[in-house]
Amino acid sequence: MPDIESLLKENRVFKPSKEFAKAANWSKKQIKEYRSLGAANPERFWAKMARENIDWFTPFKKTLEWKPPFAKWFRGGKLNVSYNCLDRHLEGDNAWRRNKAAIIWEGEPGDTRILTYAELHREVCKFANVLKQQGVKKGDRVALYMPMVPELAVAILACTRIGAPHSVVFGGFSAEALRDRINDAGAKLVVTADGGYRRGAPHALKPAVDEALKGCEGVGSVIVVQRTGEATEMQAGRDLWWHELMEGASAKCAPAKLDAEHPLFILYTSGTTGKPKGILHTTGGYLTHVTTTAKAIFDLKDSDTYWCTADIGWITGHSYVIYGILANGATTLMYEGTPTYPAPDRFWDIIERWGVTIFYTAPTAIRTFVRLGDEYPKQHDLSSLRLLGTVGEPINPEAWMWYHRVIGGRRCPIVDTWWQTETGGIMISPLAAGVETKPGSATLPFPGIHAAVYDDSGASVKPPNGGFLVLEKPWPGMLRGIWGDPQRYKETYWGTYDKKYFAGDGAHRDKDGYFWIMGRIDDVMNISGHRIGTMEVESALVSHRDVAESAVVGRPDEITGTAIVAFVTPKSGIDSGPALTQELRAHVTKQIGAIAKPAEIRFTDALPKTRSGKIMRRLLRDIASGKEAIGDTTTLEDYSVLAKLRESDDG
Ligand code: WT7
Repeated sequence: MPDIESLLKENRVFKPSKEFAKAANWSKKQIKEYRSLGAANPERFWAKMARENIDWFTPFKKTLEWKPPFAKWFRGGKLNVSYNCLDRHLEGDNAWRRNKAAIIWEGEPGDTRILTYAELHREVCKFANVLKQQGVKKGDRVALYMPMVPELAVAILACTRIGAPHSVVFGGFSAEALRDRINDAGAKLVVTADGGYRRGAPHALKPAVDEALKGCEGVGSVIVVQRTGEATEMQAGRDLWWHELMEGASAKCAPAKLDAEHPLFILYTSGTTGKPKGILHTTGGYLTHVTTTAKAIFDLKDSDTYWCTADIGWITGHSYVIYGILANGATTLMYEGTPTYPAPDRFWDIIERWGVTIFYTAPTAIRTFVRLGDEYPKQHDLSSLRLLGTVGEPINPEAWMWYHRVIGGRRCPIVDTWWQTETGGIMISPLAAGVETKPGSATLPFPGIHAAVYDDSGASVKPPNGGFLVLEKPWPGMLRGIWGDPQRYKETYWGTYDKKYFAGDGAHRDKDGYFWIMGRIDDVMNISGHRIGTMEVESALVSHRDVAESAVVGRPDEITGTAIVAFVTPKSGIDSGPALTQELRAHVTKQIGAIAKPAEIRFTDALPKTRSGKIMRRLLRDIASGKEAIGDTTTLEDYSVLAKLRESDDG
């Protein structure tokens, strides 16, 4: 936990502004009230939130059924997510929202589209009918492999309308990664696009789908959005154009009345084995969690233009580009492309032109902007901003201060939000009206969330000592399982402490009870706020014909947080020159995607192992980060290996 020292010394405190607090959705008084209710009786707190923030076709009878580690929230309740995100904004007192922007979309080339709530509703109903025509039924899985275009939001909501769980696969993943995910979820239909724009050029997606489907029996049809207009091969009898199907589709589609525990989506994330985990979220609890947290933490108002820069292919995009934002009737901005295209001021230009009021991004992006220099934000009027957020990794106090000063003009509260794909929604975060912030701390658990820091034995550690972050009580947005693998679900999250959720992060609390998250403690790396398992990269490497063995570790990186370093033992007789380095990096990109590409590959003729054959990653981490390997090496099998690895430094 390298940052613990510097973070412990951080003692700046920022008080909530009175003006902000006065107008906030959750007043200081309410926050206090919810905190004590959430502490004393979390179920009652969440039941209240579920009733206040969500529309139910049938009210729920039981708030929680908890048979550890399996939870069922809001039993007996029936609802529909697309109804909550769309229909309810078109009716009664809310009917004025019909012509309010639901989605403001900007493509990388600069083209724009605005979908009002009424328009988005119509598109969603039409696409839901298209899905039905293609034989998609309640419970069938639909894979979405798309760029950041409005059709992705439409497809997601259409799935929820008919109760077909979606599995969004980030467009940066390779054909192989897509194939594994399609097969694991047993998807029967894929929605994709000809491509999207990345760094000023069209980037094709459809060929990856064609490649992936060579190994997928279950997929009957592929629906293709025309985004770039590039020549695209269409397989007769399987591939269909989105715009052609939509032309004939009816705009009438009643929302399915679904059980609160009906599967809403699967989202794959990395773990400590080579096989990604399909994280399962369900309907009522998830929607309650993301809607409540969006309203309270982002303080979403009807007058806001909210922008979260995450790709919808990650949980942040699911929860806080789409679901939590639209359920509140707010305007969500979606941007297709690269932050620095055509110039390093693209983000600030977007904020100025659209008058963005709430901005939610990742520390890695902030650090990139710090390095690019203040002149880019200074070219723009950012005075529309009123609240800033960060997510995905610990933010270093320097980057926090820059964000506060240069982007927030010293007036915007910053919410540093800790959560995970598995938690569904935000778990630890400031509330702008009632929580003092400290740069680098995610502050306090949301009301109703019971977070703690434990030691190995399962005892709470005393501040300011560090330990493992745990969640002591179930919460509505929690994952309901790993798709098809209940055993892994039990072991990964509930196997460490009895009936307590093990988050996989190191953390400590300060004297005020504030949480300081130190990052992953397992074999999972956090690269630019994205999770990549070391095992995943290792499996990709050893699948190359020239590789005998490999060990992958992370080393600290100023911009991306962590950079991937791969130690590779080539098969005998293989020349380990720069050509092989290049080839292996390309190979990992092909197997997983560019985000998993090692920043550095070091060749070695042996890896340091314990006598029982376990690779000593701690040593490799030290070597990769340039530290001397001074840890306990008494179990090391072959000391000479260490010296050799250090020598390979020059390469
Ligand atoms: C891991 C979850 C939740 C959406 C993005 C990532 C790290 C996340 C913070 C934060 C420190 C953070 C943790 C966590 N993380 N937010 N505010 N401060 N660390 O989702 O891919 O599921 O990764 O991201 O290590 O376990 P994810």
